[in-house]
Amino acid sequence: MSILVTGVAGFIGAGVAGALLARGETVVGIDNFSDQYDPVLKFARLKGLRETTGFIFLEADVAEREPMLALTQKHGDLDRIVHLAAHSGVRQSMVDPYVYVQTNVMGHLVMLELARGITELKHFVYASASSVYGANRKLPFVAADRVDRPLSLYAATKRADELMTETYAHLYGMRATGLRYFTVYGPWGRPDMSPYIFAKAIHEGSTIQLNHLGFIKRDCSYIDDIVAGTLAVLDKPPVDAGHRIYNLGAARSEDIVQVIALFETAFARKAIVELRPGEPGTLQETAADIADTTRDFGWTPKVTVEQGIPLFVDWFKSYNRL
Ligand SMILES: NC(=O)c1ccc[n+]([C@@H]2O[C@H](COP(=O)([O-])OP(=O)(O)OC[C@H]3O[C@@H](n4cnc5c(N)ncnc54)[C@H](O)[C@@H]3O)[C@@H](O)[C@H]2O)c1
Repeated sequence: MSILVTGVAGFIGAGVAGALLARGETVVGIDNFSDQYDPVLKFARLKGLRETTGFIFLEADVAEREPMLALTQKHGDLDRIVHLAAHSGVRQSMVDPYVYVQTNVMGHLVMLELARGITELKHFVYASASSVYGANRKLPFVAADRVDRPLSLYAATKRADELMTETYAHLYGMRATGLRYFTVYGPWGRPDMSPYIFAKAIHEGSTIQLNHLGFIKRDCSYIDDIVAGTLAVLDKPPVDAGHRIYNLGAARSEDIVQVIALFETAFARKAIVELRPGEPGTLQETAADIADTTRDFGWTPKVTVEQGIPLFVDWFKSYNRL
């Protein structure tokens, strides 16, 4: 049997696919090399996977209905799906809203239709995001909290995915799980996310702009923990048909100024920081309550920022040949 992983050239997708292949699974990976950030990094992530037995790669757009639905005929032994392809990023979703709805909403619908067509489907796992907590003030964020005040279109598309999945699980008896990831960082991380932006700025001596006058807290999750959590969830579908949602985060909310200090230590160089007022689309603080995730999957994050940031900086230097 094989597993369909969408967004396989992405940061989390490549990690998940690599871990699945390492335990002997067959993975059919999909990606369209979107231009959200430089695809060269995506090709590099994919290179290692392509050299591994059991990996099949298809360049495709998840929002393209016909070729995606035809996939199940060609790969008739798919029994699990990890749907990670998305257009991510909060700020960019205010600049180019259409691509967010096309990929994250239409693409998600196509994936649900694809999943519905697989009679032997054991589990449909997909990426949501901590952004769905939006304007919520109660911390830490609990998966059962109301989430109807998204602050960005990106968050709204992720919430729409959760609602559509709820409907499909109800209508068609699917077993589905949504994962709300919290700021994932680590080797092979995304250049459009703050950890990479901090590393690049400190290395180049350019200015880091901090919103909310620097009063920002983030639950920063190390990639290996996120990959392990995603696999733990994939391996334990709901007993009966249904849809569940879990937080996957470090459950430690870090002061962003302290995080920058860890980067400064790793680079042995001071950061130049400019404080700015808040942006309307961004959350000031995120903190994950993972009690349910730990209870149901025995998963706990292992890597602290004190350990993870030096590992990320090591990778950043070697990848960029510094
Ligand atoms: N990294 C995080 O901190 C974080 C936090 C919350 C949620 N998420 C979610 O987790 C998932 C994976 O995130 P990531 O950090 O690996 O992002 P990523 O951008 O590195 O990976 C997503 C991949 O999907 C591909 N893709 C985009 N549009 C596509 C389309 N239409 N068809 C096929 N492939 C397409 C991209 O080329 C990319 O390789 C996403 O759904 C994201 O929204 C990530």
